Amino acid sequence: MKDTMKAMVLGRFGGTDAFELRDVPVPDVGPRQVRVRVHATAVNPLDYQIRRGDYVDYVPLPAIIGHDISGVIEEVGSHVTEFGVGDAVYYTPRIFGGAGSYAEQHVADVDLVGRKPENLSHLEAASLTLVGGTVWEAFVTRAQLAVGETILIHGGAGGVGTIAIQVAKAIGARVITTARADDHAFVRSLGADEAIDFTSEDYVDAVSTITRGRGVNVVFDTIGGDTLTRSPLVLADAGRVVSLVDIAQPQNLIDAWGRNASYHFVFTRQNRGKLDALTGLVERGLVKPVLGATLPLARMGDAHELLENGGAYALRGKVAIDVAGQALALPARFQERLLSGDAAARS
Ligand SMILES: NC(=O)c1ccc[n+]([C@@H]2O[C@H](COP(=O)([O-])OP(=O)(O)OC[C@H]3O[C@@H](n4cnc5c(N)ncnc54)[C@H](OP(=O)(O)O)[C@@H]3O)[C@@H](O)[C@H]2O)c1
Repeated sequence: MKDTMKAMVLGRFGGTDAFELRDVPVPDVGPRQVRVRVHATAVNPLDYQIRRGDYVDYVPLPAIIGHDISGVIEEVGSHVTEFGVGDAVYYTPRIFGGAGSYAEQHVADVDLVGRKPENLSHLEAASLTLVGGTVWEAFVTRAQLAVGETILIHGGAGGVGTIAIQVAKAIGARVITTARADDHAFVRSLGADEAIDFTSEDYVDAVSTITRGRGVNVVFDTIGGDTLTRSPLVLADAGRVVSLVDIAQPQNLIDAWGRNASYHFVFTRQNRGKLDALTGLVERGLVKPVLGATLPLARMGDAHELLENGGAYALRGKVAIDVAGQALALPARFQERLLSGDAAARS
């Protein structure tokens, strides 16, 4: 009989109650694959977008989703030479390409897997793979952000933004970021040089004031909406826009011509090279993941609710999942919300 493991399974598309903790078979290991004991995973907006049904054509149900893993190798395929049993690794599973990370074990193609940074816990390492790989691809591979340039990073207090600020500073750029006023001291502590309150200020005016009308070299779009249309208004000549957000509405890019602007659209690709580059930055103390909350695997629904409504709960950084244990650390506002929910359920 096949061994089984616990997994949070998405049985239907819907609300945060759509997950169910089930016993499922442990997957087999192919010749160029490794089987990993998952110590930690993390939650990304892609996860709740999948859960609520934004990607029905890409995710057959029932599904194990999840896009970050840190853990320890328990079995290697016959053609794996670069890792062995007992090695600590971290990676993003292939997106839309099989089982995800919400499970006690995971089998991955070895080419996706990187050595876990030694100075990070599994929770911290799991919180870095998808957002870190995305930021690396956006800044280094695509926008080619350079020393001395200025970048506008939207959403600096979020999962992507907290890493983006640190990587941009490691590259040697000047960072302007948007965040709620309550988060300004926090984003500055990560290295941001300037912070704009997106709830009360127009970032086009604010960037013009901060840069004395010169504009920025790169805009990093993590928010969508009309950012593609408005970015030329904050760009210097030959500026670049890198966007992570797929927007269904047509965008008017007429102002981009006057700026000689270029646009890059990133849907993150998984590979070991990006993880190794990030490991270098982490082990030199230049980048550190920010854990905004930690929950056990069985509370995945709560983890989704927290990330989906992060602003309401003053969430900063990532929501991590302790797969191998029961760690629980929550923003105070979310804890209050859970306690009041429990009280309502009891009355
Ligand atoms: N294409 C890719 O490969 C890829 C990879 C990773 C992420 N993404 C996408 O990138 C986006 C961000 O991901 P994430 O993990 O950083 O999400 P997140 O952790 O939820 O962070 C989003 C941040 O943006 C802030 N924000 C909301 N509205 C804003 C506005 N109008 N201006 C400036 N900031 C605003 C939020 O602040 P409050 O919480 O205070 O409201 C929050 O801090 C998501 O849409 C995700 O799907 C795409």
